[in-house]
Amino acid sequence: MSKKVGGRFASGMMALGMLCAAAQVAATTTVEVYKSPTCGCCAKWVDHMRDNGFTVNTHDVGNKEARKKAGISSTLGSCHTALINGYAIEGHVPAADIIRLLKEKPKAVGLAVPDMPHGTPGMEGARSDPYNVLLIKERDEERKDTTIYNRYDPYAKKAEQTQPAPQPDAGKDNNSVMRLK
Ligand code: CU
Ligand code: CU
Repeated sequence: MSKKVGGRFASGMMALGMLCAAAQVAATTTVEVYKSPTCGCCAKWVDHMRDNGFTVNTHDVGNKEARKKAGISSTLGSCHTALINGYAIEGHVPAADIIRLLKEKPKAVGLAVPDMPHGTPGMEGARSDPYNVLLIKERDEERKDTTIYNRYDPYAKKAEQTQPAPQPDAGKDNNSVMRLK
C-alpha cells in the first residue's frame, strides 16, 4: 500500500470515528416517551428519534402527568414528553439538538419546542415555520424565562439562498402553530 493511500485511509478512519462518537451517544441512550395513543405526529417523532439511533420505549398514557413530574411548565406544553439520561424533552425537538444536549451536559431540566410548529421533526408537510428549541434551566421555569438553545428559520435560509424573505403577515402568523387543546 502506498503512503498516499495509507494517509487517506487514516483520515477516513478518523472521520468515521467522529461519526461513530455521535451515533454512540444515541445508540446507548434509551428514551422513554409519554404520548397519546392516537397522535400521529408523536409516532412520527418517535420514528425520527429511532432513525437517529435512539432506542425508544413508548407509553401511550398521555403526557400531562409525565410533563409535570419532569418539572416542565405547562406554558411549554406540547403533545409528548420524553425522558433521556436525566433530561426531559417536551415536544418536537430535533434529534440533533438532543444529541448536542447529551454531549454538552448542561445543568438543566431539558429542552422544549412548545406547541407543534409546522416543519419540526414529525410535523413535516407543505408548510415550514420558524421555531426555537428552548433550554429549560430550572424546574417549572416559565416559557418566557427559558433560553434559546437553537433556532430554525426556513425563511432566513431561503433568503440566504436566493430572493428576499417573504413577509409573514400578522393574520397568518396567528396560525403558525397548532395549538393544543
Ligand atoms: Cu405533535
Ligand atoms: Cu407528539
